[in-house]
Amino acid sequence: MPDLHDLARILYFSAGITKQRAHPGGEIYFRAAACTGALYEIELYVVTGDLAGLDAGVYHFNPADLSLRLLRKGDFCRNLAQATAMEPAVAHAPAMIICTGTYWRNAWKYQARTYRHFGWDNGTLLANMLAVSAASGLPAEIVLGFVDGEVNRLLDLDTRCEVSLCLVPIGRKSESSLPALREALVLGLETIPLSECEVEYPAMLEMHDASSLESEEEVAQWRGKQQVFLSSAPAGEEVQLERPPEEEQPMDTIEQVILRRGSTRTFDETASITLAQLSTIFDYATRGLPADFLKPPGAQFNDLYLIVHSVQGLKPGAYFFRREQNTLELLKAGEFRAEAHHLGLEQELPADACVDIFFLADLKRLLEQYGNRGYRAVQLEAGAIGGRIYLAAYAQHLGATGLTFFDDDVINFFSPHARDKSAIFLLAIGKPLKRKPQ
Ligand SMILES: Cc1cc2nc3c(=O)[nH]c(=O)nc-3n(C[C@H](O)[C@H](O)[C@H](O)COP(=O)(O)O)c2cc1C
Repeated sequence: MPDLHDLARILYFSAGITKQRAHPGGEIYFRAAACTGALYEIELYVVTGDLAGLDAGVYHFNPADLSLRLLRKGDFCRNLAQATAMEPAVAHAPAMIICTGTYWRNAWKYQARTYRHFGWDNGTLLANMLAVSAASGLPAEIVLGFVDGEVNRLLDLDTRCEVSLCLVPIGRKSESSLPALREALVLGLETIPLSECEVEYPAMLEMHDASSLESEEEVAQWRGKQQVFLSSAPAGEEVQLERPPEEEQPMDTIEQVILRRGSTRTFDETASITLAQLSTIFDYATRGLPADFLKPPGAQFNDLYLIVHSVQGLKPGAYFFRREQNTLELLKAGEFRAEAHHLGLEQELPADACVDIFFLADLKRLLEQYGNRGYRAVQLEAGAIGGRIYLAAYAQHLGATGLTFFDDDVINFFSPHARDKSAIFLLAIGKPLKRKPQ
């Protein structure tokens, strides 16, 4: 059972303010997980029964003063369990975190692309949440199957501005004794406007509606789907990834790693990393996420493709990660720093990194299998695996950054292997350039 202290730790190391930097435009408050544009559009809410130090209620997490603001008094756990069609992890959880996305916080800069950022930015935050929960001995998993309207109503969200994205049950009760269903009346709480006016991007509202689940039956049906694995024989030479022995694994606590993390702003283009370091990153990041949509356990929607610039023990070139075999298949050998520069939106970071990891998925097949909700799942999974890559890199005192990219050019670069896939996410790993003291 979590107590207030456990929840505070999980919330702080997922969405808390970990750094503060002066900037010409004012102070910037950086948070525990990476986020597009440092705009932090993901909000966290807690729904709980009585816990040590915290009364049953629905709360909003405020990172500015590390507090929980009470929105509703009383135990609303059955409301959530029912909204997830009695998902076992939710029905047995003493507390739940709900992640929401606030459109305008990100869309004033990125317009309708924000919808994609919801998945990425929620995902990096989830990687921290799962890691800190595990370190606290508390089971946690990502639940994407829920009746959207029910969860939004419980939080009393104005869904033209903010929508629920996923649930994370924290802890497990031995018995699933749920209280009675409670009526969630309209709260009508006043909120401080983000700007004088907001621009609405209808494409995002339409995408959200089109990927919403309307009833418990629809949720149960969606969750029942199993991934069909399609594996092809390798055509190129393969390199085995091997995780170094336990005594050589990084020893810092997850809190130390999260506090150290911060996206690398300049990579040292003369540096290299070892194959053992890369293997450790892949071992941690791709061991399978606990999520209701990933069945059988260990399934993964995203495929990982690499551009290797300088990894000791690997030829520079383009590779495909064969997850079941834990090998890297060489697709084409060569120096591709110029190509990486272009693919990563003409930025220096992907060209100067030691390795760029591209996430690609067969979106068409996933949408056929999982419906429009599959779109949310694939973006969220990429963000969470990306978040794990960040953590595994910083645990080894390496640097990393998420990156934006030219979608079609990424597919062309990795084709014919990547034919029929879509580009989902990109992350670069390397060694940060140490600036000389001025
Ligand atoms: C999905 C994603 C995409 C990003 N894309 C870029 C990018 O294209 N260029 C860049 O310089 N930083 C990029 N970043 C890094 C963010 O700017 C950074 O996470 C944010 O400023 C917060 O800083 P922090 O990661 O150091 O905490 C990206 C981060 C994420 C999570």
